Amino acid sequence: MLEILKDRTGEIERLIEKYPSRRSAMLPLLWIVQRQEGWVSQESMKEVAEILGVTVAEVYEVVSFYTMFQQKPVGKFHLALCDTLSCAICGTHEIVAYLNEKYGIEKNKVTEDGLFSLELVECIGACANAPALLLNEDLITNLTPANIDAMIAGCRQKAGAPAATA
Ligand code: FES
Repeated sequence: MLEILKDRTGEIERLIEKYPSRRSAMLPLLWIVQRQEGWVSQESMKEVAEILGVTVAEVYEVVSFYTMFQQKPVGKFHLALCDTLSCAICGTHEIVAYLNEKYGIEKNKVTEDGLFSLELVECIGACANAPALLLNEDLITNLTPANIDAMIAGCRQKAGAPAATA
C-alpha cells in the first residue's frame, strides 16, 4: 500500500471530512497519489476505491476522464504540450521536433534518465499565448526554442542532473 494512504485516520480522513460525502474527495485523493507516485496505478485506484467506499470502475472513470491523471509512469518532469488549433498553428509540431532532436524527448515516452516525458493534449486554456504546455502543474506559454532550452536547463538543475550537451 502507498505510504500516504496507510494513514486513513490522519491526513486522508481529515481531507474526506471536508466533503459532503466520501466519494466527493476522489479528486484530491487522486492528486495526493499522483503527486507521491507520479502516476495513478491500478493498485492505487483499488486503494482509493476502498477508502472512499466506491467501486474501482468509478475511480477509473474519473482517472480516465481527466487527462492530467497519468495511467502509466511518466518522467519526473512531464510535458503536456497542447496540440489544439491555436497551438498547432503556432508551432506545436515544430516544438515536438525540437524536443526530440535536441533533447531526445519523444512523444509518449520517458527519457532513459527518467527525467522527461512528453504527451500531446487538448487545449489547456492558454490559447492567447500559444503555443503552450504544462510542465507538471506549471503553465509555460509562448514557447520558443530559447524558453524551451531554459525550461529544460531548469529541470535538469532541479534534478541535480548535468546540463544537456546537445
Ligand atoms: Fe493550445 Fe488552447 S489551443 S492552449
